[in-house]
Amino acid sequence: MTEPSATFILFGATGDLAHRMIFPSLYNLLADGLLPRDFLIIASGRSAFSDEEFRAEVDGALHKFLSADRYDPAFAQQLGAMICYEAVEAGNAEQFVNLGKRLDGRLDRSISVYLSTPPSLFAPTAQGLADAGLITPLTRIAMEKPIGKDLASSKQVNDAIDALVDESRIFRVDHYLGKETVQNLLALRFGNMLFEPLWNASAIDHVQITVGETVGLEGRSSYYDGVGALRDMVQNHMLQILSIIAMEPPARMDSTAVRDEKVKVLRSLRPMTAEMAKTNSVRGQYGPGAVQGQIVTGYADELGKPSDTETFVALKAHIDNWRWQGVPFYLRTGKRLPTRQSEILIQFKPVRHSIFGRNGDLDPNTLIIRLQPEEYIRLLIMTKRPGLEREVHLDEVTLDVSLTAAFAGQRRRIAYERLILDLLEGDPTLFVRRDEVEAQWAWIDSIIDSWKEANVKPAPYPSGNWGPSSAIALIERDGASWND
Ligand code: BG6
Repeated sequence: MTEPSATFILFGATGDLAHRMIFPSLYNLLADGLLPRDFLIIASGRSAFSDEEFRAEVDGALHKFLSADRYDPAFAQQLGAMICYEAVEAGNAEQFVNLGKRLDGRLDRSISVYLSTPPSLFAPTAQGLADAGLITPLTRIAMEKPIGKDLASSKQVNDAIDALVDESRIFRVDHYLGKETVQNLLALRFGNMLFEPLWNASAIDHVQITVGETVGLEGRSSYYDGVGALRDMVQNHMLQILSIIAMEPPARMDSTAVRDEKVKVLRSLRPMTAEMAKTNSVRGQYGPGAVQGQIVTGYADELGKPSDTETFVALKAHIDNWRWQGVPFYLRTGKRLPTRQSEILIQFKPVRHSIFGRNGDLDPNTLIIRLQPEEYIRLLIMTKRPGLEREVHLDEVTLDVSLTAAFAGQRRRIAYERLILDLLEGDPTLFVRRDEVEAQWAWIDSIIDSWKEANVKPAPYPSGNWGPSSAIALIERDGASWND
């Protein structure tokens, strides 16, 4: 059994993610009695704060980002007492030595380091820790996305971190893996006999994965512009969902078995070529429009200058292996879409032969797995319409399982709660292994190269629409439709 970490060093502690997600998650873990008694959080950022000042910052974040009924001043105070703050700038050796002084008596025990900084600081921060003698064989390092902006740069980051910490102790975060609904995909596929025999090219016509967002740039232009939807969402979250949907059954639920199967899928993605790019990919950028009744400006206006960055992408992907031969996977994601909606749709093939003659307008079965904001599983099936007609008429009805209702009494956890707990306990199953990240980038690079070669530019779409009309054509050309 790996020793749980009683020390958590957070770099980027003054940032948005730390305020919104990491501290509220630590609070929830503490409130549920899941943090060790002698837990110490060393928060670090570039700005100067005293311990007291920073504790007040955290308390403010908890007030803001926890629901009112969840915030309990007694727990907030307990968490505050576990926090100290140390200003550290990458490259400043003296500051790393000062940080080390906070670790008195803890260096021979497991320490979890969380890098929630811009990616350019991952390697220098880890190096600073190493130079100050703060990385031991018991140190784990977690890194937020993005790891690089293409395969070559992600290799550089991975090489730099790998040189200091063994791969088994590197925890690459993809927060979608911390979502209960994403983990539930494994339960659905491998905890039921019902689906697996049909989960292949002989019964499935195509798969759709949609991650729609209503938000725009949210003040993140310095990160987002030049990155775009393909790198921001497809490279990580969507490919992780795709790999879980498409993978072979792992032998057991452990980090090696699960990640071995996911990486095989990622490596089987057919690279995009310039010739394919025109029909199998769409880039879009939102213009002015209205989202859920609110008038909003376009991306370029928000940014203050014209840009070639896509805020929407739709792709037709192929997984070149035995199970999925000939089954397209349609992916789409974007900002300023009509609704916030993440879902997977499995479109089954029609029955081989209809016994119902011309009245049997048989719609093929559809399985819809809604990941957020609602959580449900819907299976569309054909049934007989009640009546005495001699000829049977069929109608489609829905088998509807609301997970929200089924587990109504249970608090939905922040994805980061699961991930931070797993990091502290040393279980990397829900973190992304180096070979996965690199297989993801290899495919994304093929798309970026194909766009360059075929000169594919983002097409405008009015905010509040499901991307440019070419995204509809991408799927309708094949006789299918997006589930809007
Ligand atoms: C992040 C992206 O990784 O995921 C954001 O950088 C995006 O652009 C976010 O908004 C979506 O996450 P969620 O959990 O709100 O679906």
